[in-house]
Amino acid sequence: MTLWSGRISTSMDATLWDLSESYSFDHVLYHHDIMGSKAHARGLEHAGILSAAEANDLCGVLDDIEAEFDRGVFVRVGSDEDVHTAIERRATELLGALGAKMHTGRSRNDQIATTLRLFTRDAIGDVIKAIFSLVNALVALGDANEEAYLPGYTHLQRAQPVLLSHHLNAHAWALLRDVERLGDARRRCNVSPLGAGALAGTSLDLDPQVPATILGFEGTFANSLDAVSDRDFVAETLFDIALLGVHLSRMGEELVLWTSAEFAFATLADEFSTGSSMLPQKKNSDVAELARGKSGRLVGNLTGLLVTLKGLPLSYNRDLQEDKEPLFDSLRQVMLVLASMAGAYGALHFHIDTAQRAANDQALVAIDIAEDLVREGVPFRQAHEEVGRLVGEAATSGRSLRDVVLDHGQYSRFAPLFEDGASLRRRSSPGGSGPLARDEQRRRLDERVRALKSAHEDEGYIG
Ligand code: ARG
Repeated sequence: MTLWSGRISTSMDATLWDLSESYSFDHVLYHHDIMGSKAHARGLEHAGILSAAEANDLCGVLDDIEAEFDRGVFVRVGSDEDVHTAIERRATELLGALGAKMHTGRSRNDQIATTLRLFTRDAIGDVIKAIFSLVNALVALGDANEEAYLPGYTHLQRAQPVLLSHHLNAHAWALLRDVERLGDARRRCNVSPLGAGALAGTSLDLDPQVPATILGFEGTFANSLDAVSDRDFVAETLFDIALLGVHLSRMGEELVLWTSAEFAFATLADEFSTGSSMLPQKKNSDVAELARGKSGRLVGNLTGLLVTLKGLPLSYNRDLQEDKEPLFDSLRQVMLVLASMAGAYGALHFHIDTAQRAANDQALVAIDIAEDLVREGVPFRQAHEEVGRLVGEAATSGRSLRDVVLDHGQYSRFAPLFEDGASLRRRSSPGGSGPLARDEQRRRLDERVRALKSAHEDEGYIG
């Protein structure tokens, strides 16, 4: 029997059934759907539609049904179109007429909006926790190699030396912005649509604030049409995950480069490496490549949902059922990437000698000579030109910049700049890449992590 057997007498064509059923993927919402239904039962009790005993019975049976799902013994019957119909059918089986009362004053339209908001609210908390673990792994790798440095690049050309911790923290800062963004999305997610009914509210005396308070929502909807048709919270979450995925992809690309024989700055631990089915010598960085590759579907999931939403008339349309699979997929994939990247960085062997040799490239000292000339009063453009000529001479004559500088007596005072690590030590401006700026940045990073963690703990996001 369908939910609309009163209105439509013939049974649904099998092709339409296959097209429209969503239980196959939305059953994962059972916990949050039952939470919403229990809160709705209390709302019905508050309105005097259910007696206290009836509301207690209904909530008790909903707990039993949840336990069936938890134990993997919940049985879907053929007519269960989605998770909501399955739970209501089972409640009615167990409770008879009382079960049939549970949908009073509610539509699946406000129900799914509520369920999905509850689900997304928790899922964002899980992503935030996983981001913090990755940030920890990055910071710990920098701490374990406190003095290590490598070349910093622009245009993938060696530019200036940077501390390894400075480099890794650059990724950490981006990830912390992801935490901020997700927290922001979560706030807009945290508004209850329950009570909007199919689209226009109800004539029954139901107060939306009652279930909203029980469910810990920060507020309730102001407009019932908006409440059932708004999927901004899904789109925002997908955007935040897509951008997080782009950050992870850039980190992945960097690990691919670092672990190549050409760079040889790092080696992945064996447990985070893969081999080749044909070439016995291969040790591949699939973890990093998948971090890079997964970003494609994360962006695709966002794009797909935006296209689904575009052009929908108010209010609920069945198209909205297409919000779930992209959301579930993005959450699952990004959690996989976050966990494996945290593990990979946690066990990464960084090859300090190779990286520092590359960073001690004498050409990188050019800016230090120019800046010393500036200190002596030479306008920067002129200093740039002067040092550029020395670099050009080194390139055409095949000598090192240091040899050229020493050959020109008037520049010999710059010889100490060529000592290993000298250039790095001079990068002392606030937020700069050298050891003198390190502690201040670290203090700011720790402070940001602490502030974000405590904000999320306050809101009950972090266990
Ligand atoms: N499975 C549906 C969804 O995810 C639930 C809402 C169905 N509402 C309706 N009027 N057909 O959107």
